[in-house]
Amino acid sequence: MTVLRNISKTSLLKLIPVTFAAFIWVTPASAGDAAAGKVIYDGKGACAICHGATGAGDGVASAAFNPKLASFVIPAFRLDTDGDGNSGTDTDLSNAIINGAAKYGGNAGMPGRADFSDTEVNDLIAYIRSLQK
Ligand code: HEC
Repeated sequence: MTVLRNISKTSLLKLIPVTFAAFIWVTPASAGDAAAGKVIYDGKGACAICHGATGAGDGVASAAFNPKLASFVIPAFRLDTDGDGNSGTDTDLSNAIINGAAKYGGNAGMPGRADFSDTEVNDLIAYIRSLQK
């Protein structure tokens, strides 16, 4: 009886990491809230100053940049921050937002916002994606 009880306890313990892993796996990487992202984009992120109110890359400070800012409306993302051969993945956008573009060979005009939480970054990504026409 004691042996049986021990076995079932061990199996239960083994299930804990499996259950946890499954939970992480079904949680989408970027489950951001676009509406919350807009508040940050227009507000404390000051993204609109450069990227424009509609994400067209035509904000009031955009004229200072050459080459022209990439548009979020017709996405043609430049930065491949993780070197996987694809630009504009959630990882690329997230890295650019947190660390700025210069770290990845891009324009130093793109400031890093390491002060933003993962939630804020995911919300911004959701908002940027929602700007695509
Ligand atoms: C002072 C101007 C400025 C501000 C403010 C700014 N950006 Fe940028 N951003 C840039 C520039 C310039 C680039 C282009 C970098 C490059 O392509 O070399 C860029 C690039 C990006 C990219 C990568 C695009 C690509 O082509 O891969 C993302 C994503 C981005 N910005 C998001 C944001 C977000 C979100 C905010 C607000 C938190 C923000 N930016 C604030 C100037 C700015």
